[in-house]
Amino acid sequence: MSEAADLLLEFKDVDTYYGDLHVLKQVNYTIGRGEIVSLLGGNASGKSTTMKTIMGVVRPARGSVVFDGKPIERLATAERVRRGIAPVLEARRLFPRMTVFENLEMGAYTRKRGPEFEQDIERVYALFPRVKERHAQIAGTLSGGEQQMVAIGRALMARPRLICMDEPSMGLAPNFVEQVFATIQEINRQGTTIFMVEQNANMALTVAHRAYVLQTGQVVLSGTAEALRKNPSIREAYLGEMQVTV
Ligand SMILES: Nc1ncnc2c1ncn2[C@@H]1O[C@H](COP(=O)(O)OP(=O)(O)OP(=O)(O)O)[C@@H](O)[C@H]1O
Ligand SMILES: [Mg+2]
Repeated sequence: MSEAADLLLEFKDVDTYYGDLHVLKQVNYTIGRGEIVSLLGGNASGKSTTMKTIMGVVRPARGSVVFDGKPIERLATAERVRRGIAPVLEARRLFPRMTVFENLEMGAYTRKRGPEFEQDIERVYALFPRVKERHAQIAGTLSGGEQQMVAIGRALMARPRLICMDEPSMGLAPNFVEQVFATIQEINRQGTTIFMVEQNANMALTVAHRAYVLQTGQVVLSGTAEALRKNPSIREAYLGEMQVTV
């Protein structure tokens, strides 16, 4: 990814702290337009902090986060959403007392209500027939897998250029995991760039074009998904080929 015009998101030497705790250390990522990029790494390596740094939940102490050619690290979260970044963060954070439909509506709050709204709802229902079936149900009563689908659907309602996902497969049964990843690929084919944290390395390296590996806040490996699948240390640490001691 060398052409700046093809880059949608960049981290340039980003350092992020929580108080004195130095979590991201001189981190660089590049996400090209149209890519699916996975972020792998052990617990507490800084994966969720990466997503929070993109969304503005935490601000980097040093370095720059560039979206569509412009630095965004000083912008409020709502402005980042308006510019086209949509989060699907940990724990899904649906509005539990609202219906499924109302949750999807909330995803479109940054846009003017118009005919596209109906199209977008239909697109979400086409991707997730289950969400359509359950549109009138109170979101807090959905199963975990159904909530994940609504969370992804809600992100799509913002018509984002980039979706940031934190562990989309967490807590899902295997058949749901496959469905969610198939949908992620379909969303990508329809033109949305995707950056996702995923513990399921097998799945992550199957659907992604490229991936980064974080270890205690530093990028220790990156490359095409194909190259990483063949990398012996990835195979040992993440693809379950040997017992690991980290
Ligand atoms: N709000 C916070 N305040 C203080 N420390 C935090 C905060 N959020 C995260 N941390 C710490 O920062 C480090 C990195 O956390 P992060 O959530 O980014 O890890 P992760 O790679 O997503 O891990 P996991 O795989 O367990 O989700 C951890 O040591 C964590 O305890
Ligand atoms: Mg995390």
